Amino acid sequence: MKQTKITKLLNIKYPIIQGGMVWVSGAKLAAAASEAGCLGVIGAGSMKPDLLKTHLDKALSLTSKPLAINIPLLYSKVDEQIKIALEAGIKIFITSAGSPKKYTSFLKEKGCTVIHVTSSPELAIKCEKAGVDAIVAEGFEAGGHNGRDEITTMALIPQVVSAVSIPVIAAGGFASGQSIVAGFALGAEGIQMGTRFLMTKESSAHDNYKNEILKATSASTKLMMKNLVPVRLLKNKFFNEVQSLENSCASDEELTELLGKGRAKLGMLEGDIDEGELEIGQVCSSIKDIPSTDQMISKLVDEYRESIARLQS
Ligand SMILES: Cc1cc2nc3c(=O)[nH]c(=O)nc-3n(C[C@H](O)[C@H](O)[C@H](O)COP(=O)(O)O)c2cc1C
Repeated sequence: MKQTKITKLLNIKYPIIQGGMVWVSGAKLAAAASEAGCLGVIGAGSMKPDLLKTHLDKALSLTSKPLAINIPLLYSKVDEQIKIALEAGIKIFITSAGSPKKYTSFLKEKGCTVIHVTSSPELAIKCEKAGVDAIVAEGFEAGGHNGRDEITTMALIPQVVSAVSIPVIAAGGFASGQSIVAGFALGAEGIQMGTRFLMTKESSAHDNYKNEILKATSASTKLMMKNLVPVRLLKNKFFNEVQSLENSCASDEELTELLGKGRAKLGMLEGDIDEGELEIGQVCSSIKDIPSTDQMISKLVDEYRESIARLQS
């Protein structure tokens, strides 16, 4: 696969980043992704400080290749999470869900590489001003929490690329070598994937959840709770309850009460596919296998090469 500003910045073989994912990207997946030549990312969002330390130590014992941490900035223990990651020796931070101004200069002073996740060109400009090294631009198709403005990856990436001069990593809807070629054609220097990495043997998503995703059709996901915390969900019983509350113009308080505590953990980690919140990207319906991370990356690289050859013939 081609070398880009992102492979150079992160010192990785392939310009592919395994997206940080709550309940899904622990030590096993992050280390496997790094070993496969991508950037493995520990998803700190669902980890209390002690658990985070355990995952970081484990991941660093499984790989000596570059490894990153994703920290959504909306959680209360962010300062502690950053301290633990710095003490463990992490040098690449991917921040999301908050202002890029808050931690970027502190992390840069510590000699770290900082990447921030955005869903609009306007926020991308703010990230560049805050001094980040690169941007993840994530479109409406993506799994997990999402922007409110429904900007698709196809429309978003070229706009972000022309708005900033730092490298842009495209995210949202990438799960094949062909789509990676398309991402580069739009001007991206790297590709971040979440859903495809969730559907590997090493991800800690529960088997019930992975098996449910294998049955998904193209209409199986929808962006919900746009006024509260926009999130793309797999349609299930919990989704239906959210939808009927939203259709009845429920208040944010009523939605918060339905959401309760621990719904995402219940669904994604513990495998309750009726009552749990199941976050996943639109591209999930194209995924029909659960390979090892290494096998998945080899297949992507083959597809990428075939796609380039087809374009050149
Ligand atoms: C289950 C799940 C959990 C996620 N959790 C996070 C998170 O904690 N922090 C974050 O920045 N992005 C999170 N994301 C977004 C991914 O890092 C990635 O950007 C996104 O999945 C890319 O879109 P794709 O799913 O179409 O590949 C999550 C995505 C999924 C599917």
